[in-house]
Amino acid sequence: MSAIPPILLVGFGKMGGAMLAGWRERGLAAAVAVDPMRPASPGPEVTVVASAEEIPSGFTPSAVVLAVKPQSAAETLPLYARFGASAVMLSIMAGQTISTISRLLGPDAAIVRSMPNTPAAVRQGITVACPGAGVTETQKSLCHTLLTAIGEVAWVDDEGLLDPVTAVSGGGPAYVFLLAELLEKAAIEQGIPADLARLMARQTVSGSGALLAASTEDAAQLRINVTSPKGTTERALAVMMEASAWPDTISRAIAAATARSRELAG
Ligand SMILES: NC(=O)c1ccc[n+]([C@@H]2O[C@H](COP(=O)([O-])OP(=O)(O)OC[C@H]3O[C@@H](n4cnc5c(N)ncnc54)[C@H](OP(=O)(O)O)[C@@H]3O)[C@@H](O)[C@H]2O)c1
Repeated sequence: MSAIPPILLVGFGKMGGAMLAGWRERGLAAAVAVDPMRPASPGPEVTVVASAEEIPSGFTPSAVVLAVKPQSAAETLPLYARFGASAVMLSIMAGQTISTISRLLGPDAAIVRSMPNTPAAVRQGITVACPGAGVTETQKSLCHTLLTAIGEVAWVDDEGLLDPVTAVSGGGPAYVFLLAELLEKAAIEQGIPADLARLMARQTVSGSGALLAASTEDAAQLRINVTSPKGTTERALAVMMEASAWPDTISRAIAAATARSRELAG
């Protein structure tokens, strides 16, 4: 028996595609993916259609995964209201609140709002999810299964926490990639050839991430492990860890992103 029951995926883009790939690895009974670009089906159990009208009649999904861009929500979601009677609605859309989604799908829809991140593409994501009113334990458990196919999953009951979640882990990969860019630039400034600078920066960021994932030690201890007294790393960290440098900058950046998430949610 398949681990994943029939799923309707609305929006077969980067995140939707990553989720579909994760579900297929777990054993997917059947899925219909709706996307106007009609990307190629990844396998025989997935039917790809261009619009809601083309969904095969009789297809009864256990969950509808809402993975379109937030700005498409108002025109797209009402087309799927008819599935609300039998399926849980799992949204990954940034900034679309449960009450907005509920307005578009009707008051009876059981809605789970979640925020994944792009390492989902390699099943290394982190998703934080919040159940709306009326979501049953069975529906929550199904959403948990769907989200664990792309990485770690945590649940919160306070939907307001999804704003700082969006700022920290939703956007977090961008900050880590920025670090790789800046390390590469600084290496070139110190005379290292561009190709080597790129390789060093990429492998340092990805290797450190892998070490963090494999280790039981805190990030702070892993940092200390690299820092010999009076050595070169200590000299660099003294610059970075000055209160007005990284600590204050990261706090202000996350506060700004959290505020923006609140603005977008209205
Ligand atoms: N990327 C991230 O870091 C991230 C992180 C967390 C959450 N999210 C959320 O995940 C969602 C998807 O993001 P993404 O990065 O995967 O975007 P994306 O690659 O642009 O995927 C969205 C897909 O939906 C399609 N689409 C547009 N209108 C549609 C409709 N009416 N019916 C069905 N499909 C439709 C788009 O087709 P066209 O290209 O033809 O418009 C596109 O293929 C967004 O709501 C975003 O907030 C993204």
